[in-house]
Amino acid sequence: MNFTALSLDRRLGAQLYLQLADRLATAIECDDAAVGERLPAERELAAQLGVSRTTVAAAYRELEARGLVRAHVGRGTYVCAEIEEAGIPFSWRGKLTPSAASAADPAMVDLLRWSSDPNLISFAAGAPALDRFPQETFNEISQLIMQRHGLAVLGHGPGEGQPLLRHAIARRHGVRAEQVLVLSGSQQGLDLIARCLLERGDVVLLDRPGYLGAIHAFRAAGATLVGWDAVRADVAELEDLILRHRPKLLYTTPTFQNPTGRTLGIGQRKDLLALAGRYRLPIVEDDPYRELYFAAPPPPALHDLDSHGTVIRLGTFSKSFAPGLRLGWLVAAPAIVEQLAVVKLRSDLNTPNLTQLVLEEFLSSGQFDRHVELLRGEHARRAALLTAGLTKHLAAGALRARRPAGGMYLWCRLPDGQCARSLLHAGIAAGVAFAPGELFYADVAGGDRLRLCFASVAAEQIEEGARRLGVAWAKLATAEPCLRAQVVPMV
Ligand SMILES: Cc1ncc(COP(=O)(O)O)c(C=O)c1O
Repeated sequence: MNFTALSLDRRLGAQLYLQLADRLATAIECDDAAVGERLPAERELAAQLGVSRTTVAAAYRELEARGLVRAHVGRGTYVCAEIEEAGIPFSWRGKLTPSAASAADPAMVDLLRWSSDPNLISFAAGAPALDRFPQETFNEISQLIMQRHGLAVLGHGPGEGQPLLRHAIARRHGVRAEQVLVLSGSQQGLDLIARCLLERGDVVLLDRPGYLGAIHAFRAAGATLVGWDAVRADVAELEDLILRHRPKLLYTTPTFQNPTGRTLGIGQRKDLLALAGRYRLPIVEDDPYRELYFAAPPPPALHDLDSHGTVIRLGTFSKSFAPGLRLGWLVAAPAIVEQLAVVKLRSDLNTPNLTQLVLEEFLSSGQFDRHVELLRGEHARRAALLTAGLTKHLAAGALRARRPAGGMYLWCRLPDGQCARSLLHAGIAAGVAFAPGELFYADVAGGDRLRLCFASVAAEQIEEGARRLGVAWAKLATAEPCLRAQVVPMV
């Protein structure tokens, strides 16, 4: 903008700096000074306007206090936000740190919002068959825990988690209790790992495509994300990436991966661990879906095959029990568990006691295993219903997908390589939602992919959801040339 055109009324004396701040704020509001634009140096603007440098400096400080500009030592003062609403002369966006501002992607919010919208059949968020949750048993056990532990449940608890639950998780996974950290969901574990292990500019190797919550957590820590093809899972390719990028850690979901559903074989697991051992590369093994196999159990966890202590294994009860309870865990060497526990204190002091103790009772009484067994059958049934529904309702098989052997997702590919966003747009209008594939890539890719979670949609609604997808498809196929391509049978 032309700053010399700013007119000031000198008769107002001491208020000159406020006038200048207001003029500049108006310029920002009217887009005359855009976000990212550098304001003139204080001395330069003072000379142009015939005011003292102190007046300009005070005006810039005022704008900074309003959140509209940010001063960077040695680089100058930059417009960093627009005024948010008419009449509110304060911009919170301008107060955000760059990492928070870059995390403004609404994708996760959308996925969660769609699953609670009664007008939509949502294949979007990754949740288990909650309609099969043992509610009555849960109520009874909650009462039992309150009777057994009394008011202690309502006080603070240990930051590492309730000892009873730590022991139960340790027994389940053949480790010592001090290797277990209870988490308020495994997403918290990803955040803690990012905060403890990553500095700005560090490289993280991660599944491509991979879990979007991990992408967000590592990106917020300022890491550079380098993708390792999740489906090819070629260990030679991984070595090449390690040599080229010198990563700080490797993040992978080896079992029923989110979003692709693929599972690494035992050979791939051993090769991967040998590589991590050779290059002293910590592995974050994100393992939420292991128990949710349909027929045959998957190969052992990386953590259980590892003899170097390089694996941090994350788990959660969100997929095998209920995501709203926010109960996850990690298992690792005590040295890193202790450090992560200290940082966790800063985040939530402790994970709620009541749900931890209720879950422990579910585990120790065998009720949890019975429920997981039920989920395996139910999820397998829903996966089959969805593939059948899609084959029936999407013009001669418009989606290609591999039938999963466990987990929760059908990872689909549209023909001719594009437009999952357009399909989603039409889908929302037709009353169905899913997760567009591009969310699972840290780079720009996956526009022709979509992820359908079959587990959380009630069995009786699945075919109707597929029918609505068919309606959306038909609408697009006439409107969008990119979706009119030939259709490939689903496998
Ligand atoms: C691979 C993976 N990791 C972590 C999470 C987060 O789970 P939680 O609910 O325990 O935070 C999810 C949820 O979708 C996931 O798919």
